[in-house]
Amino acid sequence: MIFNPPRLELARLPTPLQPLDRISEIAGGPRIWIKRDDLTDTIASGNKLRKLEFTVARALSEGADLLVTCGGIQSNHCRATAWVASKLGIRCHLILRGEPPAVADGNLLLDYMLGAKISYAPNNAFANLDKTIGEIKQRYPDKLAYFIPIGASDSTGLWGYIDCCSELKKDFAREKIHPEYIISATGSGGTLGGLIIGIELHRLSAKTIAFNVCDDEAYFLKKISDDFVDWEKRYPDILETSKLPINIIDGYVGPGYGRAEKPVFETIKKVAQLEGVILDPVYTGKAFHAMLQEIASGRFGKSNNIVFIHTGGLYGNFPHRDEFQFRI
Ligand SMILES: Cc1ncc(COP(=O)(O)O)c(C=O)c1O
Repeated sequence: MIFNPPRLELARLPTPLQPLDRISEIAGGPRIWIKRDDLTDTIASGNKLRKLEFTVARALSEGADLLVTCGGIQSNHCRATAWVASKLGIRCHLILRGEPPAVADGNLLLDYMLGAKISYAPNNAFANLDKTIGEIKQRYPDKLAYFIPIGASDSTGLWGYIDCCSELKKDFAREKIHPEYIISATGSGGTLGGLIIGIELHRLSAKTIAFNVCDDEAYFLKKISDDFVDWEKRYPDILETSKLPINIIDGYVGPGYGRAEKPVFETIKKVAQLEGVILDPVYTGKAFHAMLQEIASGRFGKSNNIVFIHTGGLYGNFPHRDEFQFRI
């Protein structure tokens, strides 16, 4: 790492970079590689762990002994934060958007198993997050709380994928490839934002593109630009970010965040069966499916190699079990 913000060692790094040759052959475009960030650790697998290494280091340096964060009921980020808290022996309180479900499934089951305290916030309470956070802090008068924004996507969390670019650089050198594109899902912007800065700082020749799984292109352009402004303020004189390209391919959200149509489930099954790689319908499966559509329509026409970042999400499959339509 060229720059040295405080960091904890939580993730198992480096993660493997693997070719998906059976899928590439069917797709008929460039050779598809997959960066296995789903393997950053067994339980807290995924992109969130890379960001939390920096975010939680900052929390601890400020004396925090309670992590408060928020997300959807099946949030991978919340589950990863609950895991980090348990690993470090500190408390965790999650604010999950919505009503309490009848069954604690997928990530939510893990949140409870890891000992996180959970508040359910209907949409209006979630919209008024500052008030909800204030109320939660009052419940822990003897603790110092640190609030981690949704997805750990802020100036500090950006370091996770800035640093991943130094790993990718070594991967590419080892494999003797010069991928034209690095592709990911975007949900709160931190992975894409980190990749954009990281590509620049580590001088990779690839472009990065993300498929949004919620909101729209305009939302992510603003969110990521705002995070860049905060990043430059907090870590001055490293890089001028205002002209960096933010490439979002909009149009694949489908029926909404956390919901997917049949072809996405078919792609997830195909990748599992041909490559032994498990994607998920909320993030990685949706983005991978979108990438295959874009290959089919010729977007990556002249490229030789493209890299898909597998950002995790395994547990998000379980609440969607019926949509896979397996006959038992
Ligand atoms: C499995 C998975 N992949 C991708 C993303 C998107 O990453 P980001 O929030 O950094 O945009 C998330 C979280 O939002 C996630 O949980």
